[in-house]
Amino acid sequence: MNKIPPLDLTKQYKQISTEVEASVLDILRSGRYIGGATVAQFEQEFADYIGTTHGIGCNSGTDALYLALRALNIGEGDEVITTPFTFIATTEIVVRTGATPVLVDIDESFNFDLDRVKAAITPKTKAILPVHLFGHPVNMTQLMEIAQAHNLYVIEDCAQATGAEWAGQKVGCIGHVGCFSFFPTKNLGACGDGGAMVTNDPAIAKTLRVLKEHGMTSRYHHEETGINSRLDALQAAILSIKLRHLDTWNQGRAQVAERYEQLLSMVPGIQLPAQSLEGKEVWNQYTIRINNGGQPGATVRDRVRNQLQERGISSMVYYPIPLHLQPVYKTLGYRPGQLPHAERAADEVLSLPMYPELSLEEQQQIAYGLKDSLSLREKVAS
Ligand SMILES: Cc1ncc(COP(=O)(O)O)c(C=O)c1O
Repeated sequence: MNKIPPLDLTKQYKQISTEVEASVLDILRSGRYIGGATVAQFEQEFADYIGTTHGIGCNSGTDALYLALRALNIGEGDEVITTPFTFIATTEIVVRTGATPVLVDIDESFNFDLDRVKAAITPKTKAILPVHLFGHPVNMTQLMEIAQAHNLYVIEDCAQATGAEWAGQKVGCIGHVGCFSFFPTKNLGACGDGGAMVTNDPAIAKTLRVLKEHGMTSRYHHEETGINSRLDALQAAILSIKLRHLDTWNQGRAQVAERYEQLLSMVPGIQLPAQSLEGKEVWNQYTIRINNGGQPGATVRDRVRNQLQERGISSMVYYPIPLHLQPVYKTLGYRPGQLPHAERAADEVLSLPMYPELSLEEQQQIAYGLKDSLSLREKVAS
């Protein structure tokens, strides 16, 4: 029986290795490793792809979010509404600016619930930070209406959603700033760290560029405390090549998701991920829920996960502890039971292997393993 990893980047690399290796060699021979035409070209290509006028590369998705908040003057005394069900980078950067993350519970899509977002707005709220988790777009029409009614900034965390759409627009071009990660596991992944910010506002774009380069407005003239956050030329060259394949790879992911749906839709004890009606998801993760039979805790999910692992099938738990219950956020004052949907999701979620090259046979093996683990030993229909 084949071992199935949660993600296999070697298969993707094989498709583009000749082009990537030639391009990397060009950069190595050029002696131009930081900035320059290669980075500028990728920034423009990426902005064009997302549908914004400005694209600014940086070191990571984390930096992209931090810089976006700084560019919008968010800091001490401000509140930023976001989700407790995300990677910690989303809230980490809010705290880093001196602002306070306000966490609201999620809905069936795993994204934050917009009624709860509305209810959490106070006079201190300065921004809303939606996360298009697992590649599933937040309802940006409603979110922008809420933000506009209260004069709030919207910073989109698109780390897991490069290429996803809401109502015909790519996520990242709808809020004031869209922030992307090019961490290798993302839909558009570099061969190392990388990130980008996109915006249609020239003033915000200018500030982002200043802040990411030590707050420097002209050579060695610094008006603000910035950071050093660069997308290097090697990564930009690789990303330019990969960007041309992104839509095809995202279609591949959609096909894998469709096959999971066919294989798993009738399995009792499993809830499949929500599908967006007005949006288009890009399936950075395919995350099912394993029903714990109304019991608190993750016993059933963890048993299923271990049994899959025994068959050589790796799965992941994104995320086992919602952020409001993380020790680091004790001082924010949340208690267990306060955000019950996020807490239940943390006990039930299981992300199955997801990458465009995953074969039907491998998916059948995964479905069979799941059914077997849930004591449904009938043969998986092919
Ligand atoms: C939702 C989310 N936000 C932000 C980040 C941070 O991105 P990076 O790892 O590039 O700093 C990640 C990456 O894992 C993420 O998944």
